[in-house]
Order: sequence, then structure tokens, then C-alpha cells
Amino acid sequence: MEDMTFVLFGATGDLAQRKLFPALYNLYLDGKLPNSLSIIGLGRSYFSHEDFQSKVERALKVYCRRPLQTTGLDDFLTKFRYCTFDATKNDSYQNLHELIRNREIELSLPENRFFYLSVAPNLVDVITAGLNTSGISQSKGWKRLIVEKPFGSDLKSARQLNTSLNNAFSDEEIYRIDHYLGKPMVQNLETIEFANPVFKSLLDHKRIANVQITACETVGVEARADYYDQAGSIRDMVQNHLLQLVMMTALHLPEKNTAEEIREQKVSIMEALRPIHKEDIARDVVRGQYDSGEIFDTPVVGYTEEPGVDASSMNDTYFAARLYIDNPTWSGIPFYIRTGKRIGTKSTKIVIEFKNKVKETDVPPTDGIIPNLLIVEISPNEGISLRVNMKNPSNKQFEPAFINFFTRSEDQPEAYELLLFDAIRGNATFFANWKEVELSWKWIQPILEAFQENTLPLYPYPAGSTGPEAACQLLQNDQFKWW
Ligand code: BG6
Repeated sequence: MEDMTFVLFGATGDLAQRKLFPALYNLYLDGKLPNSLSIIGLGRSYFSHEDFQSKVERALKVYCRRPLQTTGLDDFLTKFRYCTFDATKNDSYQNLHELIRNREIELSLPENRFFYLSVAPNLVDVITAGLNTSGISQSKGWKRLIVEKPFGSDLKSARQLNTSLNNAFSDEEIYRIDHYLGKPMVQNLETIEFANPVFKSLLDHKRIANVQITACETVGVEARADYYDQAGSIRDMVQNHLLQLVMMTALHLPEKNTAEEIREQKVSIMEALRPIHKEDIARDVVRGQYDSGEIFDTPVVGYTEEPGVDASSMNDTYFAARLYIDNPTWSGIPFYIRTGKRIGTKSTKIVIEFKNKVKETDVPPTDGIIPNLLIVEISPNEGISLRVNMKNPSNKQFEPAFINFFTRSEDQPEAYELLLFDAIRGNATFFANWKEVELSWKWIQPILEAFQENTLPLYPYPAGSTGPEAACQLLQNDQFKWW
């Protein structure tokens, strides 16, 4: 791993405190950071270097998954420096450049520079242009840029953003972060098939009845109404996280593949994703919005009563859809995806439902037999289980039994840890490349337009429920149900 400078834009923000500082600290504890590393945090407010180091330490105390160790803590904190920064001012870039150079000299660092943008979307292209014109991103070493979502707000704006980033960084230098790709069980999806020959014969359209991908949460809009009321679940969760889960699930990798091969496969899956035409959206897509209700026995308000949300907002807080991947592996198999806020239970999982008959000529199974399911639990539990039918010896009834493997989440590295480690090593396997992002926007664009034009019903659902009834109907129409 090469020595480098890590420049963090948005270092006083929420993501830095909750995720990025703990991730860096855990990597430090595991010996997974470069030997010599300069970390420079940037924010609009003034902090001395010492104040900033104390801020980092406080964040670690609150948010780190492991207790702070006295040994090494000072060594970790002294890597940090702070620079007050206004993205629209030339002076700011000059000060930053000076600080980067001084630290490079002090620590004898090569000019390898890693820029992490955890900032408001409208500042992303301003900062990358500033890095370019100030010369900061034109060093003798390598450079990398990590950008957080949202990557644009529709197909057109995503393309514009990409063009503007490409003025300063090549595609190989841009790491578009999608934290779902850092979740340990998502990173395991490719392994499940290629390392387990038993699944190879099972995971294709001859055996599978349908695939269901769920990412539901109990939280509501929280304090993010400004952003969320514009984005809705479709931009917040579907264009990125859910479609990435579709790609990762549909990967068909009979052997260990390179990062490049995986990316190519993901792109080919998106290319094979059947477009949903405007006239079919009402049939294939369900949008919903939460009403008042109860979460964990506590009353909560409906979406339009949330602080900062317009009382007449038609924004979607729930999304479900049926989609098809028209390639030889998945031909004819429906994929159902759903995501919602203020659902009764937090759960991110992938369920593969197997057909009840191996051959068309097979006699249908006896009553009481339920389909076999392969369940990949991503969050909050992490594990994999296979649901099989067993007969209860006392009453001779069929009962479902589970072959289970679960890990304890607190022992697992967090998504940001895995992703930062990869990016530091220059491994882009679990980052969204431009083609995937562009194809995702392209796929949802007609749906976005239908939402905008309000041509689709907006189904209310009580907070604490499983979502709108229409989402169940979507599967019932195909004689399936959500698991
Ligand atoms: C974020 C969304 O990307 O993912 C949030 O902006 C959502 O609205 C969050 O709550 C869910 O992430 P996780 O890891 O808790 O499933």
C-alpha cells in the first residue's frame, strides 16, 4: 500500500463523524493503513489542528464499533490536520495546496493524493474544477476521487456531472461510493455461487421461480426533508442501492473473476434489464407514502406532517417494482424490488424462491409444502439460510426448517471500512462505475417522469405496516407473495 495524503471535504459533517473517522481508525487498528499517511480535514468553520483532532477522538468514542485503545491513539490522531475551506474561494485552494505540500515534505510522502467529497451535491463539480485549476490534483503521484451519492438527480444531470468530473479525473480515478456495495453480505454474493458448486446448478431460470430484493427501514425522513422531499425513495434508494443489489444478485460467475470482469458483467446485466415503458409503469411499479402510525409502539406522524415537508407533497417514501433481466440466465424470472421508510421492521435481504417442480411434468407437491428459499440477510442481521420442508414426526405435518449461517454484525467490518480499504489500495470492484450509473438512471428515467407528471397512484400506508397493499398485489398477480 502506497503512502499518501487523504483529503476529506466535509470533515465536520455527519458522515465523517459517524462513518469515516471510525472506518479509518478501525483500518489503523488492523494495520490496513499506509505506513505514512497525512489526513487533511476540510470544513467551512474554523478549528485549530488540535481542536479537530479532539473532534475526531470524540467521534470515535461515540461511533466506533470497537472501544478506543490507549496504545496508538495519539499516533493515529497526529495524522490529522485541519484547513478551513470555502469551495468558491481561490484562497482556500491555495491554503489547502500549501498544507498538503508541507505535510508531504514533513512526512517524506510521495505526491499520491486521495480526495474524498462528502459535500452537498452542488459542490461536487465546483470542488473538482477547483482542484484542477489550482494544480492540487496535478501532482507527480497518482490521484483518486471518491464521490458520495447522489450522482445527479436524473439522467441528464448525471451525464453533465460525469462530464464535468472527467475534466479533472479520468474514469479509473473516480470511485463512486454506494455503501450497499460495502456491506459484507453483498460482497459475499459473488462468492456464494463460484465457491459453492452446489448452488451453480440451482441459480438459473430452470430452478428459480422469482427473486425478491427488500431494503426497508423503520426510520422516516428524519432531519433530511430538504433533500428527501426532492429525491424520494426512487432517487434515494432505487437508482443506486436497489439496482446495485439487482446487479450483484444477477452476477453469474462460475469462477473467481477480476474486478474488470465483474464490472463488465454488471454493465451487461443493466443492458439486459428490460425497459419499463411509460404505458406499463402503472402495472409494474407501486409508489407509496407513509401515513401516521406506530413504530415500536410509539405513535409517529405521517410524511406530510414531518418538519420541512410540504403538506401537499406527493413524494414517494415507498417503491416496489417488477423487473426482468432478458439474458440466458434470468430469462422469464421476475425480480421484485421494494424499499420503504417507516416500515414496521428494518430489513435488507435478498430472497431467491425456487420452483416447486423440477420438471414441468412433475406432479405438483402435496398441500402444505412451501417453496424452498435461499435467503441472504444483509442488514441488520448478516447471514444466509436455506428454507427446506421437514415433516413433524408427531403430527406428520410439513413444517419449514432452516439451514442457517449467521454472523454477528458487531464483529464484522463496516461497509465504509471495506470500501475505504479498497479505494486506498486502488481496487474499484465494489464501486459503481459510470456505465452502471448511467444505465441505472436510464432505466428509471421514464418512472421518474411518470412520478413527476403524477400519472401514477400514490398509495398511503400506515407507519409501522409492511407497505401499501398494492405492493402485495403486484406479486399476487403472478401467484407469488413477499417473503
Ligand atoms: C442512504 C439513504 O443512502 O441509505 C438513507 O440516503 C437510508 O435514506 C440509508 O436511510 C439506508 O442505509 P442502511 O445502511 O441503513 O440500510
